[in-house]
Amino acid sequence: MTTTGPGCGGSGGWRLRADVVVIGTGVAGLAAALAAHRRGSRVILLSKAAETATFYAQGGIAVVLPDSVRGADDSVDAHVADTLVAGAGLCDAEAVRSIVADGARAVAELVGAGAHFDESSPGRWALTREGGHTRRRIIHSGGDATGAEVQRALDHAAASLDIRRNHVALDLLIDDGAVAGVSVLSEDGPGTVYAPSVILATGGAGHLYRATTNPEGSTGDGVALAIWAGVPVSDVEFVQFHPTMLYTGSASGRRPLITEALRGEGASLVDRHGEPVMSGVHPMGDLAPRDVVAAAIEARMSASGDACVYLDARRVADVARRFPTVTAACRAAGIDPVRQPIPVVPGAHYSCGGVVTDVHGRTAIDGLYAAGEVARTGMHGANRLASNSLLEGLVVGGRAGVAAAEHAELAGPPRVVVAEPSLRPVLARPSLQHAMSGYASVVRDDAGLGRLAAELETAQPRMLSSRSVFEDAALTAVAGVVGAAARARTETRGCHHRSDHPDTDPAQAVSIVCAPVASGCR
Ligand code: SIN
Repeated sequence: MTTTGPGCGGSGGWRLRADVVVIGTGVAGLAAALAAHRRGSRVILLSKAAETATFYAQGGIAVVLPDSVRGADDSVDAHVADTLVAGAGLCDAEAVRSIVADGARAVAELVGAGAHFDESSPGRWALTREGGHTRRRIIHSGGDATGAEVQRALDHAAASLDIRRNHVALDLLIDDGAVAGVSVLSEDGPGTVYAPSVILATGGAGHLYRATTNPEGSTGDGVALAIWAGVPVSDVEFVQFHPTMLYTGSASGRRPLITEALRGEGASLVDRHGEPVMSGVHPMGDLAPRDVVAAAIEARMSASGDACVYLDARRVADVARRFPTVTAACRAAGIDPVRQPIPVVPGAHYSCGGVVTDVHGRTAIDGLYAAGEVARTGMHGANRLASNSLLEGLVVGGRAGVAAAEHAELAGPPRVVVAEPSLRPVLARPSLQHAMSGYASVVRDDAGLGRLAAELETAQPRMLSSRSVFEDAALTAVAGVVGAAARARTETRGCHHRSDHPDTDPAQAVSIVCAPVASGCR
């Protein structure tokens, strides 16, 4: 029997049993839990934080709708092609096709759960565009409040499920090569949930950086749990910086997103002098893929010495009504987007890589699944296409729930694994965020990544005695693999830009896998 340490969980504390444990309550976690529940599984959801990244998603869901309701000349082939172009040679084309082709069905299921989307005329959904999409194929809700509507509908559908709030999953219990449960920290102290199937749906790791569009719980928990359990993670160097996060001086933590759909409706990026940022950079101009736009903004800021650029949305028709979330965030910061350009900077937004899975969320460990931002299905490659994340969370979340339920039925109850407490290296968050923001941000180089590695070497082992220590340990583990993979990838590709290797190297068109992490990333 092998176990990973349970942090402060130990063998004592409270105990629960389930068929399927889902860690995380955003789109992927709730889709998974509902699917497993429908299959008759006893499901326990563990929720660490009140807010999910799903809630904050603005732009929408990229989906190819059936002919009868589609408003544009679109096809699965076209959506797959756009996804592959954005992914810069590292997508798994079969995974992309499988997920894209299942999108309309998954969205119909979401509508069945009560979600509403904006209409352009009665019975016809309004479609918008974002960077990298050659068609208008993004459905949205409440203008720019799509994530809030998805979360509302799924929360409502899952209201009768067993959701344990303020429960932090500290470690995976592994018994003889299969998952056996999770050690957990709750307000009642340490404990264990035993289950033959565990689904990681913990979201991203935006708080690796000083400023991010992610909610405060996005601390890379699922990737860290996988790393500690020896489960392969891949493509982690591809951290996507959203080109337009609201700039509000040196404020850190979660900053408001300024949705790309504004550019889909005519807004444009300019510098302090009103000069366009994107002219001559890419044939798609302001709607180029996200990595291209973020790098162009960085280049303009570094050439001018300015701390931000501006998104001029003044010509967007009825901007305050169409984009109420953005308008409210701007006005709260003293900016009126109807009259003024919006100050923006690129901000850490999305982890394109993560725990290696197939398109049913299966990982290398029997009974362990991952879905949503925490996972690496091969959908995003080196750079995620806008609004493909809610799509992937819905589709793969649902499939992972089915697979986990089926596995639980076959596997039967797990053995009670007694695990010893363990120590994890922890770098204090301000130091970690300073090093990641300085050396592993939009543009990297070997010297900086070496400094990041040296900083991470100073991490001190600590017991996981609180949520904040656990989160700092998780961030430290994830920073380690992001830094190692970024250093190993000596080229520029997708959202990984190396100033010392500015070209794409065809010989490096392969994913870097860290497995297990102690043996390095290659
Ligand atoms: C946005 O609305 O610009 C973000 C959408 C996404 O991250 O896919």
